[in-house]
Amino acid sequence: MSCSIASEDDLTRRFALPIQYIVPFTSRKNSVFLVRYHGKLAVCKHFKSVESAQKEWTLLFRLKSIGIPAPNPITLFGNWSIREFVDGVPISDLIDMDSHNIRWITPLAIWLYSFHRYVNLKLGDVNLRNFIFQEENRAIYAIDFEDVSQGNPLEDIGDLVVHILTHRPEFTDNKFRMATTLIKSYSDIAKISRKSIINELYDAFLRAAVRRRNLSILNFFHFVKKIDSLLEPSI
Ligand SMILES: Nc1ncnc2c1ncn2[C@@H]1O[C@H](COP(=O)(O)OP(=O)(O)OP(=O)(O)O)[C@@H](O)[C@H]1O
Ligand SMILES: [Mg+2]
Repeated sequence: MSCSIASEDDLTRRFALPIQYIVPFTSRKNSVFLVRYHGKLAVCKHFKSVESAQKEWTLLFRLKSIGIPAPNPITLFGNWSIREFVDGVPISDLIDMDSHNIRWITPLAIWLYSFHRYVNLKLGDVNLRNFIFQEENRAIYAIDFEDVSQGNPLEDIGDLVVHILTHRPEFTDNKFRMATTLIKSYSDIAKISRKSIINELYDAFLRAAVRRRNLSILNFFHFVKKIDSLLEPSI
């Protein structure tokens, strides 16, 4: 957690409004913390640059106007932004809490398809902490839009499959079940072949190997073949 720079006084001075600092979130790229703003829970994100803050801010407005679930933007000041708190469970925590819960997978495939179809960009960073699931209404919210860019949307699906498989404990049967369910859901919704997603997996594993040095490249072919065979009977 990297939130040491923000204190309540600091935040209140910057936004010229009373902000109550509550707790930091786990974050890698920026400093992110839960605050109380105008009496309501909100999330304050301190970006590394003004450009990143503005980029995400613009995206949040665009998603709001299209109706794709994402936190409502509240206020932006330089490289600081405050957005609505999304009450739910990050997928990463959900998997840890109940490894047999797969109710989030189809809503996530639908969310990604809507984003790819109507925003026409790829999300970029699809780590499992970036999606929040509301069990009551089966809704997925994505919360991190800093790495959105032009490109092949299927890269998001490939990267997501690798994030699922490598979420500890890695490469269990359960993780393969989640990964194949995601591929089936997305390919059905987007009306694309499962093979086209499977073909993305090699590159997705290579990108993951650059991020995480402890992944053995030798096993990639085996993992992709396993996914392929799990999907085969219904192709
Ligand atoms: N609007 C929100 N509602 C609820 N939780 C949020 C919200 N925004 C962020 N979080 C929590 O804070 C964490 C970090 O947020 P975010 O992904 O935006 O920051 P980041 O610096 O890009 O993190 P990372 O580099 O780890 O992806 C999220 O994983 C999530 O748990
Ligand atoms: Mg994030």
